[in-house]
Amino acid sequence: MSLRLGDSAPDFTANSTAGEINLYEYLGESWGILFSHPADYTPVCTTELGTAAKLKGEFDKRNVKMIALSVDGIDSHHGWVKDINETQQTEVNYPIIADEDHHVSELYDMIHPNADNKLTVRSVFIIGPDKKVKLIITYPASTGRNFNELLRVIDSLQLTANYSVATPANWQHGEDVVIAPAIKNEDIPAKFPKGHKEIKPYLRTTPQPNL
Ligand code: BEZ
Repeated sequence: MSLRLGDSAPDFTANSTAGEINLYEYLGESWGILFSHPADYTPVCTTELGTAAKLKGEFDKRNVKMIALSVDGIDSHHGWVKDINETQQTEVNYPIIADEDHHVSELYDMIHPNADNKLTVRSVFIIGPDKKVKLIITYPASTGRNFNELLRVIDSLQLTANYSVATPANWQHGEDVVIAPAIKNEDIPAKFPKGHKEIKPYLRTTPQPNL
């Protein structure tokens, strides 16, 4: 059965561009983002891994460790990283797993046979410090991911893990958030001292509480 939100992220040990890597040891107390791509030396993947490398500082600020993966071998990864660095003007600065035996791809259900029976799709798993799966997104090979959206989602996941709020459509860091329905009106002033607006009894907003 495939993974669902709230499940424990399966642990694994795998070969990577940074040597042998154990997921749980690598993550430690950090958040993690594990993302697969279909194949090395392909155009969209080249732009994606370069973009991810350029944003590593943003992931670091959020205490998120990055790990990429495809079913290509380690020599292929090392050769391709040179191309990514050259063409995307960056330095790939996170491990890429060489999942030639499909061990990790199978654990995380990253191969979707009706799309392609050999290659991984563009899967994203965000893993919390408790090693639970917090977010799953799947894109097809033909569509490159928006890594700014992944940072936005991480901002939401980290905020909502600590406060009784949710983030509305298209929310960006710094904007008002929604007060969780479970919070009673009389408890709002103590929990949200910056104030709140009641648009409907079920739609109450407050300034982002952790700023
Ligand atoms: C790409 O990265 O460009 C790509 C990879 C596999 C299939 C289609 C596109």
